[in-house]
Amino acid sequence: MKIGFLGTGHITSSVIQGIFKSKLKIKKIYISPRNKKIAKSLSKKFKKVLIAKNNQQLIEKSNWIFLAITPQIGIKILKKLKFDKNKKIISFISTIKLNKLKEITRKKNITRVIPLPFIGMKKGPVVICPPDRKLKSFFKHLGTVIEIKNEKISRSFWATSSFMAPFYNLISVTSDWLVTKGVKRAEAENYVKQLFLALSQDAVFKNKISLQQLVVESQTPGGTNAYVLKELKKKKFYKIQQKALNSIFKKF
Ligand SMILES: NC(=O)c1ccc[n+]([C@@H]2O[C@H](COP(=O)([O-])OP(=O)(O)OC[C@H]3O[C@@H](n4cnc5c(N)ncnc54)[C@H](OP(=O)(O)O)[C@@H]3O)[C@@H](O)[C@H]2O)c1
Repeated sequence: MKIGFLGTGHITSSVIQGIFKSKLKIKKIYISPRNKKIAKSLSKKFKKVLIAKNNQQLIEKSNWIFLAITPQIGIKILKKLKFDKNKKIISFISTIKLNKLKEITRKKNITRVIPLPFIGMKKGPVVICPPDRKLKSFFKHLGTVIEIKNEKISRSFWATSSFMAPFYNLISVTSDWLVTKGVKRAEAENYVKQLFLALSQDAVFKNKISLQQLVVESQTPGGTNAYVLKELKKKKFYKIQQKALNSIFKKF
């Protein structure tokens, strides 16, 4: 199979890195000449990656076309491009809904997918909407596939993907605090990364236990975890989190 990526930015780069770490058998990958720097580096690193002359040539050469451009660029360029009948379109674009995509590409065979940067390590969830057998068997090599029938629900998943930077900030503040207590930066960062990695892995491992139960089990009454949780609740830390999710949801 030949696949093409319209837009050669961060997410294309991660997906391609994941593909070459996986067992997926891909004949050729065509990428946009933009971004030049990333395109050059990918084609240099992987023999099967070729830089297309332009977006239309990329579409003509590929069986599947991944839309990995920003919403603004998508609205601008997609209506000018021609997609033949047999092409499958997979959109990574965060804020263009299926109906709009169908209208501007004049194509019905479109699926929305949410890859995240760790797809480059073949890790993390990959939301596919609506469910698609071929895409499921493709993306299961690159992460944990979650199929969603209802587009509105898939938009809720988009909203939660906005918690990457806040998560890193949470662990960064924790690490900075350790540094203020005299811990070396490298040691502090390594400690918090290992702590939060183990917490996530533990939650996945204990998949029969609900997250709320983990919250309960990780505190002893009157203990330090109970104290910090109570303090954060009192300061409305989690109410603010919910509000942020509600506001960002409106954008998707
Ligand atoms: N990054 C993520 O974690 C992530 C996750 C899921 C979904 N997405 C979605 O994926 C899309 C891309 O995100 P990104 O983070 O990869 O953005 P990005 O790094 O800014 O990449 C966008 C790419 O589009 C290129 N481009 C601009 N104009 C173009 C044109 N006319 N024709 C072809 N390519 C053009 C840019 O090239 P120049 O640099 O030359 O302008 C750049 O290579 C967005 O819609 C985003 O919502 C991203």
